[in-house]
Amino acid sequence: MDLKQTDPEIFDLIKKEEKRQTEVLEMIPSENYASRAVRSALGTVLTNKYSEGYPKRRYYQGNKVIDEVEILAEERAKKLFGVPYVNVQALSGSPANLAVYVAILEPLKDKLMGLSLSFGGHLTHGQPQSVTGQYYKSVLYELGKDGRLDYEAIEKIAVREKPKIIVCGYTAYPRIIDFKRFGEIADKVGAYLLADISHIAGLVVAGVHPDPVPYADIITTTTHKTLRGPRGALIMATEKGLQKDPDLGKKIDSAIIPGIQGGPHDDQTASIAVALKEATSPQFKTYCQQIVENSKVLAAGLVKKGFDLVSGGSDNHLILIDLRSKDVNGAIAALALETANIVVNKNSVPFDTNPPFYPSGIRLGTPVVTTRGMRETEMVKIAGWFAEVVNEIKQERLPKEKEARKAFMRDFRSRISKNKNLLDIAEEVKKLTLKFPVP
Ligand SMILES: Cc1ncc(COP(=O)(O)O)c(C=O)c1O
Repeated sequence: MDLKQTDPEIFDLIKKEEKRQTEVLEMIPSENYASRAVRSALGTVLTNKYSEGYPKRRYYQGNKVIDEVEILAEERAKKLFGVPYVNVQALSGSPANLAVYVAILEPLKDKLMGLSLSFGGHLTHGQPQSVTGQYYKSVLYELGKDGRLDYEAIEKIAVREKPKIIVCGYTAYPRIIDFKRFGEIADKVGAYLLADISHIAGLVVAGVHPDPVPYADIITTTTHKTLRGPRGALIMATEKGLQKDPDLGKKIDSAIIPGIQGGPHDDQTASIAVALKEATSPQFKTYCQQIVENSKVLAAGLVKKGFDLVSGGSDNHLILIDLRSKDVNGAIAALALETANIVVNKNSVPFDTNPPFYPSGIRLGTPVVTTRGMRETEMVKIAGWFAEVVNEIKQERLPKEKEARKAFMRDFRSRISKNKNLLDIAEEVKKLTLKFPVP
């Protein structure tokens, strides 16, 4: 029996979400709309199988076909990224990073060095809120006053702290990462360099962002961001990494299972394989070039409308707006934008004095709108709408006191959902989005 008959509630919710995704400008830079082919490999009979272990060495019988699926995914990943080792079983980006630490670091003894969360690092880069900062010693670096990586300062910290792993690759960084420079720093202090390219993996394989492979020892990536696959992750070791430790692959495999996971999600593995095949196409390369082009045009459009951008612009798929000069809070702006059918996320900006739940910035990006076929003309239009929405809320002030803030947000949420000007923009946005099909 199909879903509509067995569970109409869930069926209707999926339909509602489908409608929402069609009618909004989805501009959260860590998201993408995967192809029908990628999605149709998910939820297949492959989800029925247990296959703990690795191809040809499983703990369960009946894995001949699953072995072929996993080997195909591995071979495609190795070829696409140009690496000699890959593990495709990590269920998502966070367990992928944890597995690397489990493979290399001794808990409570060895040190890991990553970018601070409030400057655009990920939780799993050693933040105190995450087990990666609790089970391992961690030291965090920050961005320079210009909102860019300060390689000299990073080198100084690395020399002083002697971390065993240095993490580069971020969650909210709009500029190119100099992997070569990071490689030099890691080599100088004898650290492993982990490049977490979750956000930029698509751009890297398309050649529109420098490649970490010659300089990093280990590379992790989620598969669901610019790479446009299903939710999931890859852990890769480079020639450089395997030269440093020939057992690195074995250690990572054991960190995944039995270290932190049980059975892999085989339908997810198949779907990752489909995405990896799609990423080899000339159309994918053009797509990634257009992501960057769109991001640059959108950034320039926002600057023209008087917005301050962290680092002044964008080299990749992502833009970070600092709303402090407008005296508007990011949490308020994100809600107002959602009313106007523009979906972004509130985000801390470098040297933010506001708490993470009420930060001073907005993070947005172009992977989804580019997937739908939008180009420069639409980016200029979006910058205009963005400015109109922020102008509409410029009088709103978030109270400093915690309880008053909560009450304010309740009231604001209710008021803003009825704001006529924003609802008019929402209609215009909807009209535009309906011209650009969802895959
Ligand atoms: C740089 C980076 N690494 C890791 C992750 C974690 O991925 P997941 O949410 O799939 O656990 C993210 C997620 O946003 C990320 O931005």
